[in-house]
Amino acid sequence: MTLTTERTDNDLAQVRRLVTNIPGPKSLELLARKTEAVSAGVGVTLPVFITKAGGGILEDVDGNSMIDMGSGIAVTTVGNANPYVVENVQRQVAAFTHTCFMVTPYAGYVEVCEALNRLTPGDHAKRSALFNSGAEAIENAVKIARTFTNRAAVVVVEHGYHGRTNLTMAMTAKNMPYKEGFGPFASEIFRVPTSYPFRDAPLSGLDIAKRAISRIDKEIGATNVAAIVIEPIQGEGGFIVPGDGYFAAMATFAKENGIVFVADEIQSGFCRTGDWFASSYEGVIPDLIATAKGIAGGLPLAAVTGRADIMDSVHAGGLGGTYGGNPVACAGALGAIRWMEEEDACGRAKAIEAVMLPALVAMQKNHPAIGDIRGRGAMLAIELVKPGTMDPDPERTGAVAKYCHGQGVMVLTTGTYSNVVRFLPPLTMPMHLLEEAIGVIASGFEVTS
Ligand SMILES: Cc1ncc(COP(=O)(O)O)c(C=O)c1O
Repeated sequence: MTLTTERTDNDLAQVRRLVTNIPGPKSLELLARKTEAVSAGVGVTLPVFITKAGGGILEDVDGNSMIDMGSGIAVTTVGNANPYVVENVQRQVAAFTHTCFMVTPYAGYVEVCEALNRLTPGDHAKRSALFNSGAEAIENAVKIARTFTNRAAVVVVEHGYHGRTNLTMAMTAKNMPYKEGFGPFASEIFRVPTSYPFRDAPLSGLDIAKRAISRIDKEIGATNVAAIVIEPIQGEGGFIVPGDGYFAAMATFAKENGIVFVADEIQSGFCRTGDWFASSYEGVIPDLIATAKGIAGGLPLAAVTGRADIMDSVHAGGLGGTYGGNPVACAGALGAIRWMEEEDACGRAKAIEAVMLPALVAMQKNHPAIGDIRGRGAMLAIELVKPGTMDPDPERTGAVAKYCHGQGVMVLTTGTYSNVVRFLPPLTMPMHLLEEAIGVIASGFEVTS
């Protein structure tokens, strides 16, 4: 396997190389066709049409090779076309593509559940169920928690993101673009404060947890709450790492009150942060954990894993769906998980942090627009403010991202205030490309100042 050297197994040179403007003429042609064929509601961040990807590179129809600092929003953690994934998927797709696990089952589904039960925090008895998308996993976590507790209320937090289905829109904080005009939303969803250290100082994580818990007690009533659903590091909210103690205090409160504590690890899970799951940084063992994205090397798969007594409280037939735990997606997941275990994926995420974090801190010294640097492992971000203030600067954020795109570095923005540039490189990113990307990001600040 040659993932991190000069070329990937799918013969992709690990070099940034631009041969046209970004986007190039063939991409622009496809963009015009997209406009005619695809709903305007489906936007694209950067309209370069991809033909091949792997290692740390995205290659487009015009022959440009860009550095991938987004992993398709934290999905291709094991790299695109990872050979372990490719081999498993090819074997599976040639054997059979679908039977529906609920009709005639197959071993791959069970093996993925076994792996999830083994890898998620805690050594208690666990069960898993598989779905197609992160939002679907969250929907099912709520269904399971409601059945188990016989309660209705669901507590979520400020800046949280949980998806785009009707229930998960209600659980998601940010209006535009996720919720605008799509209501009415599901009921019995209650939002409480979250810890956002950059904007909360001098309040601590524990101070904010007390505030959130008081809100639950006084405004909802703890005995009405089925589930508290929190991301250990908020993704779409702005890569917000809560202050020390916040996440654990919320989990403890849930435990003391018979509330199911659900960690949404859809973005932060599967070695992305340098641990298998980000809940472990606070020593939290969630009752249920929702996963997706990095689980299957790009194939659509999601899961809910958790305490056997909670997971088994649902009547037979209450969970499922036609495609959930599709055999090809399961084969991809088994390949991705094997790669993560054999290739020390957590160590790779920490190595990325060790290079990137000091470089971002150095960048901040020259650029007061960088208000905050945060994240863990290969889930890092910078929050941009108007220099000397705490005012978000979404315009400069967009300008820096646009500059990077033009130079062949794919970066994503995020945040409630759209003022965060986030970095989610695949863990197969060669260090020379990571360093090159950092150089381009630094130039982005020079040219936009
Ligand atoms: C934390 C979190 N939860 C849920 C979701 C929804 O996942 P999906 O887009 O697969 O439905 C996302 C997607 O970005 C996410 O980051």
